[in-house]
Amino acid sequence: MKTFYIETFGCQMNAHDSEKVVGTLVREGYQQVPDEADAGLILYNTCSIRDKAEQKVFHRLNEYKKLQGEGKRFAVIGCVAQQEGEKIFEKAPYVSIVAGSSSYRNLPEMLARLEAGENRITGLDDRQTDETFDTEFTARSNPHRGYITIIEGCDKFCAYCVVPYTRGKERSRTSASVLAEAQRIAGQGYTEIQLLGQNVNSYVDPSGRRSFAELLSAVGEVNGIQRVRFTTSHPRQFTKDIVDAIDAMPALCDHIHLPVQSGSTSVLKAMSREYSREWYLERIGWTKAAKRDISLTSDIIVGFPGETDRDFEDTITLLDEVGYDAIYGFKYSPRPNTPAIHMVDSIPEEAKVERLAILNARQREIQRRNYARHLDQTMTVMVEHGANSRGQITGRSSQNKTVNFSCEIVPVIGSYVDVRITQVFPSSLVGEAITAPAAPSPALLAQQALNARVPVLR
Ligand code: 5AD
Ligand code: SF4
Repeated sequence: MKTFYIETFGCQMNAHDSEKVVGTLVREGYQQVPDEADAGLILYNTCSIRDKAEQKVFHRLNEYKKLQGEGKRFAVIGCVAQQEGEKIFEKAPYVSIVAGSSSYRNLPEMLARLEAGENRITGLDDRQTDETFDTEFTARSNPHRGYITIIEGCDKFCAYCVVPYTRGKERSRTSASVLAEAQRIAGQGYTEIQLLGQNVNSYVDPSGRRSFAELLSAVGEVNGIQRVRFTTSHPRQFTKDIVDAIDAMPALCDHIHLPVQSGSTSVLKAMSREYSREWYLERIGWTKAAKRDISLTSDIIVGFPGETDRDFEDTITLLDEVGYDAIYGFKYSPRPNTPAIHMVDSIPEEAKVERLAILNARQREIQRRNYARHLDQTMTVMVEHGANSRGQITGRSSQNKTVNFSCEIVPVIGSYVDVRITQVFPSSLVGEAITAPAAPSPALLAQQALNARVPVLR
């Protein structure tokens, strides 16, 4: 019996890559097990976006070392694998496969070599490919949301970011293949789709048939699909037709994650973001002028090399001006291979910590105000977690806000319920169901039962 265990870190792209890797392994005759002790092959899907990612990976590999005597094989895949390459074999000689995400379509061949007894198998040279990892064999582990990668890689080369080096150059799937997958997902009973890419809106249909906004609308028209989300958008290619599409089609969720990174034009320049504060705010203006109440969220980096108090203040005033519903704030951390590694990491750790705290405190105040507007509103919530010990159910609004609510009939995951909001907090809403839950289709329940046999990703 060929068995495997997989552990996943990082972004949604990585989580979905793991779904595809799992699907591929299952097709190759492997069975997924929930415990690494029972697995013949242990895969570790890694992330290197921030901090000391590589050190953490080697630390974890050291723990795996204890298992090596039991005839187990190890594979390190994902962004740290691509970044560290064959160095991984030097530091952890018991590892047999080191592969970046651009090489996953060659997994069957790598597995065959592994089974033939080969030891140092690499998939590291595929980053300049035009091909994407399209597979019908995706073991979907999310019980309510179907992920679809529409574009892989990144050509932006922001000064701080490892992604162009770990995931390679940008390449899009044809819109026909994306739509075929959306239909397949709908057939499995999923009503919510999330389109994925490092820069989804850099999407260029190789067949020339659809723009990104047209693809969004086409996915929203797929029979059975009620919610379409997409991450992550880059301000540079953010076009007004995306906002128009959301306005025109209720199935497209009224939420846009549009990371700004900094509110200071000079820091944006140093980051090679290729836009100014004003240029970004113009795009925000389009979303504010929309008919729908579009929720905005962002990523922010504090303490980028050379960021002055004044620059940081520009970020704070930008938060006020935009009024985000959520931000993900990060302290700048130098990453290997990136242009910024050659800049002096001039902001001391204490200053980064302090700026991050100021940023989060200000954002909390903004959210306190933003969330207050939802009091007494009724919103449709998709159930994501069953009842907790207090009988409270958790779901998400179209705007991606967390809603905790009570309901006489405990709904199953994937149901839709109309909820009246009775209490507001800075990052969640509380309410009560005012309609009976609309349960998901038998197809989704069957899919969830199938998922239950496949351990959930970490
Ligand atoms: N340091 C800190 N934050 C980073 N991010 C990406 N690279 C770095 C880095 N070197 C953040 C950005 C990005 C998010 C996914 O992670 O804000 O949008
Ligand atoms: Fe981590 Fe970035 Fe790789 Fe995602 S693309 S796994 S966030 S390094």
